[in-house]
Amino acid sequence: MRPVAILISGRGSNMSALIEAAAADGFPAKIALVISNRADAPGLANAQANGIKTLVIESKPFGKDRAGFEKLLQAALDEHKIEVICLAGFMRLFTAEFVQHWYGRMLNIHPSLLPSFPGLDPHGQALRAGVKISGATVHFVIPETDAGPIVMQGAVPVAGDDTAETLAARVLSVEHQIYPQALRLLATDGIKIDGDVTTSTAGVDAEDNLIAPTVI
Ligand code: GRF
Repeated sequence: MRPVAILISGRGSNMSALIEAAAADGFPAKIALVISNRADAPGLANAQANGIKTLVIESKPFGKDRAGFEKLLQAALDEHKIEVICLAGFMRLFTAEFVQHWYGRMLNIHPSLLPSFPGLDPHGQALRAGVKISGATVHFVIPETDAGPIVMQGAVPVAGDDTAETLAARVLSVEHQIYPQALRLLATDGIKIDGDVTTSTAGVDAEDNLIAPTVI
């Protein structure tokens, strides 16, 4: 089973969804480590309560010295023989070198149907654009923020009276479904990267790689 590290900065609800899924019999990956770049991340206590080893590597003292921070991060990943990284609300950009090193082995989740609405305030962006469907995307990480080959997406309807908060909550429940499924696909070699996209090695995409919205 491939040892996975989850990187967080905050509450870590996606982290918890991954931990819970990975605890089930037969899940093809093991959550070996949770790393936070903030000592006050609420998710740390949750990981510990689930018996997962946690580490804090504060990024703030490094300022713009991204490589300096990544040196410590890489050392911790090496020490724990980590093979896959899942970013789960990790609020720190990486150097292109770090991303390149982990290319094909580092996933991120973003709460929009990428390539729409990357970056900050995706739910506000969705509401301002007036989309009728939004959702979440798990993708391989590339140097460009909130971009990269898409592994899995889940869609939700946008209600006429949605606020960024109500939409975020609806999308979050889909995030918790698709992130474990995406990690499963990666860990079982169920997908391969083909240029800018991924393809299912089973040749069946629709059922495995997306969640469709239902009317609310
Ligand atoms: C999630 O919405 C995730 O998609 C985004 O940041 C948020 C993190 O939430 N990247 P949590 O810490 O997993 O609860």
